[in-house]
Amino acid sequence: MRLLLGGILHPWVCGPDGPPPIVLLPTHRPPVSLLSMSTSAAPRLVTVDPDTPDEAVLAPAAAALAGGALVAFPTETVYGLGANAWDAAAVARVFAAKERPFADPLIVHVLDWAAAQALVDPAALAAAAGDEAAPVARAARLAAAFWPGPLTLVLPKHPRLPGLVTAGQDSVALRAPAHPVARALLRLAAIPVAAPSANPFGGISPTRAADVLADLGSKVDWIVDGGAATLGLESTVVDCRGPRPRILRPGAVTVEALREVLPEVLGPDEVGVGAETASMSAPAASPGLMARHYAPRRARVSLFVGAPAAQRAAMEARAVEAADAGRRVALLVPAEDAADLSAALRDWAARVTVEVLGSRADLAAAARGLYAALRRLDEAGVDVILAADRGAMGLGLALRDRLSRAAEGRVIRV
Ligand code: TXA
Ligand code: MG
Repeated sequence: MRLLLGGILHPWVCGPDGPPPIVLLPTHRPPVSLLSMSTSAAPRLVTVDPDTPDEAVLAPAAAALAGGALVAFPTETVYGLGANAWDAAAVARVFAAKERPFADPLIVHVLDWAAAQALVDPAALAAAAGDEAAPVARAARLAAAFWPGPLTLVLPKHPRLPGLVTAGQDSVALRAPAHPVARALLRLAAIPVAAPSANPFGGISPTRAADVLADLGSKVDWIVDGGAATLGLESTVVDCRGPRPRILRPGAVTVEALREVLPEVLGPDEVGVGAETASMSAPAASPGLMARHYAPRRARVSLFVGAPAAQRAAMEARAVEAADAGRRVALLVPAEDAADLSAALRDWAARVTVEVLGSRADLAAAARGLYAALRRLDEAGVDVILAADRGAMGLGLALRDRLSRAAEGRVIRV
């Protein structure tokens, strides 16, 4: 059975072996009945130890997940909003809860490479035999090096995987998360889990269970609290299908690390990701990569790119200008700049706050703290957030990508 959703033909399949369910939906539009479908009860909350989760505590959430419930859970990157990837109705509820366009495909989470292969087109798997340059062979090498971990691999999809998961595309994005809680949940549920970040579409990704509760509340059936996400930025997405693998979204697995395994990987420069061209970044290849994303609800973000001294001077001048106009301003800067800026802006202390995001060298701390800082400042009623770019090396590139999208293109080169 095939359905027309939002003008795209979707195969509607419920499982690896079982027959497709009979589901009738209107054509040309998203399934309205599913869009309005949400549970009114508060989500069930379970708390587990991040490193050694109690499986007896997780088991009911895992059973519910396998049975079609929406379960938010921690990963090492951000919290995900999980649904059984074989269950198209459950996946439709993910889109509804997030108010996410059906054209934006989901990442499917699996335990390991063996489980991933069950979701890949059998013809592509067969083509990898004896051909090291075949997409699946390349992906296998990346998976061997970086899984479980913050790396998502895009490959030709298995025809039985519901088209809703992949937004009607013939590719699927696969990731084996490293977080012990995510892994325990996957093991207990024994299904592949389609899971976007557990935030309303376009908003800031959640790094704590409380963020999910605040953002999605009763639209979620279960929330598993496994502490704060340790990395804090979403996974690196690599499309393995072309003549050369290419990075669609920079993340914690850096370009440099990927090239140690596959030197031919095309970095974000070549695909136009980053501050300069955020609005043009591969919209067809990765429909989720919009220019506006990860944005606070109220505060307007600007990103300052340049040498540290010039950055500091430009941010200071902009902060004074905004504060003088009666706005509340926050500066997101590395520790080394905080003292100087606080001193320079002390006359404006009532309207200007300086937030430290790790030391200049500690990009991991900046990544871990970024989303929580953006949320905190937004909730505090700040009007303007001025953020310092952290360079393009290592994690700096992912930080630049997220901040330039949060800034909706307001990137100031100094
Ligand atoms: O770290 C992460 O990746 C988190 C955690 C929960 O695993 N997930 C996450 O999902 O960030 P989401 O939905 O917020 O972002 C998924 C990104 C989007 O940019 C989407 O367009 C892209 O991956 N994507 C998914 N499937 C794709 C496909 N078949 N081809 C190209 N891009 C795809
Ligand atoms: Mg997201």
